[in-house]
Amino acid sequence: MIRRMSSALLTTSPRSGGRWIDHWLDGVRDLENLRAGHPMMDAVIEEIDGRMIRVGEHWLADFASCNYLGFDLDREIIESVPAYLDAWGTHPSWSRLLGSPVLYEQIESRLTELLGCEDSLVLPTITHIHASVIPVLAASGTIFLDARAHKTIYDGCQVARSRGAAVRRFRFEDPAHLDELLAADHDRVRLVCMDGVNSMTGNPPDLRAFAEVTRRHGALLYVDDAHGFGLIGERSPSEPCAYGSRGNSIVRHFGESYEDIVLVAGFSKAYSSLLAFIACPTEIKNLLKVAAPPYLYSGPSPVASLATVLSGFDVNDKRGDELRGVVHGHTVRVLEALKTLDVHTPNRSELPIIEIPLRDHERIGAVGELLFERGVYVTLAAYPLVPKAAVGFRVQLTAANTDTEVDTLIATVTELAEQGELQSATAPRTAEVK
Ligand SMILES: Cc1ncc(COP(=O)(O)O)c(C=O)c1O
Repeated sequence: MIRRMSSALLTTSPRSGGRWIDHWLDGVRDLENLRAGHPMMDAVIEEIDGRMIRVGEHWLADFASCNYLGFDLDREIIESVPAYLDAWGTHPSWSRLLGSPVLYEQIESRLTELLGCEDSLVLPTITHIHASVIPVLAASGTIFLDARAHKTIYDGCQVARSRGAAVRRFRFEDPAHLDELLAADHDRVRLVCMDGVNSMTGNPPDLRAFAEVTRRHGALLYVDDAHGFGLIGERSPSEPCAYGSRGNSIVRHFGESYEDIVLVAGFSKAYSSLLAFIACPTEIKNLLKVAAPPYLYSGPSPVASLATVLSGFDVNDKRGDELRGVVHGHTVRVLEALKTLDVHTPNRSELPIIEIPLRDHERIGAVGELLFERGVYVTLAAYPLVPKAAVGFRVQLTAANTDTEVDTLIATVTELAEQGELQSATAPRTAEVK
C-alpha cells in the first residue's frame, strides 16, 4: 500500500506535467547530489572509539561533533544514568503541563543558579522553543531578525508572521543597522531575534552593543546561544582561557544583565543531552506554561537525557573549566596552523567552530573526498546550506579529541592548502557574506 502510494506521488502532477518532487529537488540539487553520493554526508556510523568513528571500513577522526566538553563519553556521566532509569523508567510520557518528574524542578533550579537569571523553563529542543516561544513573544508586533540567524529562528519567525507579526531583517553583526530599523518603527511589541555564538563563524556577536540598542528602543532581545552555552561564561581572574569560567553562556560572558534579554540555549551540544531551555522572568515562564504548545502537548525528554543534564552540571562544576582549557588548546593549534598556511577562516574568537571556505565552491565534493580518504570527518557546508561564497567545511573541536587526531587534521588541511583549494587569509576575497 505504502509503495503504491509513494509511486503515485512521484508521477506526474496534473497541472505541471512534471513530477512534483522535482520542484523541491531542483532548489537543493547540489546538496542532494552530495547527500546521495558523498561518503561524508548522510553517513551510517557503525561504531565509535572515543572520537574515532567507523563508516564502512574507514576509521575517521570526528571533527563534526558538537559534544564540545566530551560529556557523551564521560564515565561519571554514563555511570550515573542507570540509577535514574531504575527510579523513573525510561520515559514518562506526560506532557509537562500534565505533570513533570521532580528532575525538571532540579534541572531548572540548578540552571537558574548557573546562569544567574531570574528563572528558566526547559523544553525538549531549541527548535521547539523557537517555533512556540517566538510567536508568543512577538504577538502581532514586529520582529527584527538577524539576517544570518539560524534556520530554526527563521522558522519560528515564519510561524509568528502567520499569526500577524511583521518581520524585518537587519544586517549580520551590524547593531547600527538594527538601530536604524528600530528608530523607524514604532510598533508596540518589538522583538529582536539573533544568534549568540554563530554556528558557522564561531564568533559571538557584540552582545553589549545589541543589548544597548535594543533597550534604548524599549524592545526585547531574544538570543539563541546553542553553541556558546557550556563553552563561554563569566569572566574571572582565575579563568583557564578566554572562554571565561563555568560555561554559563553569552549574557554572563559579556557581563550583561538579563534585563530585557531572553536567552535560549540547549544541552544537545556542550552537554551531550536532549533538552533545551529559555532563561526568562517567572512571569514569562508562567505565561509559556499555558501558551507554548510543547509545554502543553509534546512528549518529554527521555529520562536518560534528564539524568545526563543533572550529572553534566556536577561534572561542569568539578571539571568544566579544565575541559574548556583542553578545547581551547586544540582550537588554538588549528588556528595557528591556518595562520601559518595563510588560510582564511572567519573565526576570530578561538571558539572551537572553524569554518574553512573553499576557493571554488564547485570543488566541495572533491575536497570532501580527500578529507574522507585521509580519515578526517567534518561537516560539509554545501550550497544552499550556506551561500556559494561560503561553501567549504566546518571543523569542530571537542575535549574528547586527541592531540594525534588534531595532528591528522592539520596535516590534511596543509595538503589542501598546498593544492590551492582554500581561500587565502591575506589575498582579497569576493566573499564576506552579510
Ligand atoms: C544556533 C542553533 N540553534 C538551534 C539549533 C537546533 O537545536 P535543537 O537540536 O535543540 O533543536 C541548532 C542546531 O544545530 C543551532 O546550531
